[in-house]
Amino acid sequence: MSAQTLLAVRDLRVLIGGRHILHGVDLDVAAHGVTALLGRNGAGKTTTVRGILGLVPRSGSVRLDGEETVALPTHAVVRRGVGYAPEDRGVFAGLTVAENLRLAERRGAGEPAYALVHELFPELKQRARQPAGTLSGGQQQMVAIGRTLLNANRLIIADEPTKGLAPKVVTEVAQVLERAAEAVPVLLVEQNLAVVRRLAEHCVVLADGRTAHRGPADELLGDAEAARRLLGVGHGPLSTHTAEADS
Ligand SMILES: Nc1ncnc2c1ncn2[C@@H]1O[C@H](COP(=O)(O)OP(=O)(O)OP(=O)(O)O)[C@@H](O)[C@H]1O
Ligand SMILES: [Mg+2]
Repeated sequence: MSAQTLLAVRDLRVLIGGRHILHGVDLDVAAHGVTALLGRNGAGKTTTVRGILGLVPRSGSVRLDGEETVALPTHAVVRRGVGYAPEDRGVFAGLTVAENLRLAERRGAGEPAYALVHELFPELKQRARQPAGTLSGGQQQMVAIGRTLLNANRLIIADEPTKGLAPKVVTEVAQVLERAAEAVPVLLVEQNLAVVRRLAEHCVVLADGRTAHRGPADELLGDAEAARRLLGVGHGPLSTHTAEADS
């Protein structure tokens, strides 16, 4: 692990219902900027994130700033400063925007950073009293990311934050992640390669529950043959243009 590594995952394995979902994921999250976690549908990206957070039974090693966390329960991992915006956004539909944010406040994590969240997402302030279930997909994503920025986190993990969003909203969410990453390192699961190209310095590619590639993001994205082999670009839902995202 280099001094520039915030999170070091080694030989992460996840077994669910007798089935090996992950069998040897290695990844490093850089201490600065965005590290992208890539791979085709079903490669094991979400399971890796859930494994890091302790949301699924796992083995191997997950070191945060050098400290082993693989045996810790999820709340203890979160308390060490890991913010998570899950794939399904995890927004409470029946609660207002303000209530969703308030629920995310973590005691002992300092004063919640509402000024930052409202600066990045002015709409969340305007819509504070709106039930979150009536927000658009992009607005719900803003709640999910906003929650991770409220507390003084050391790492933010965002699982496909641009999925299913209109191109204009994809750009907005990417801008916010870019700004968030100036303050806190981000592990970004992302299928939109234009977003990866714009934000990520490093990338990790999973295939069939294992790490298949690690390296600089621009190197992979600049190598059409490798991108096709590892990511299936041109044969799947992966796109290199934000305009290809649906609404
Ligand atoms: N709880 C579970 N029980 C059984 N199989 C599971 C479970 N969770 C995940 N899997 C399987 O593990 C594999 C990896 O799933 P995962 O959700 O991690 O993939 P992913 O890379 O996030 O895919 P996507 O890009 O579609 O989000 C899939 O084949 C999935 O069906
Ligand atoms: Mg997933």
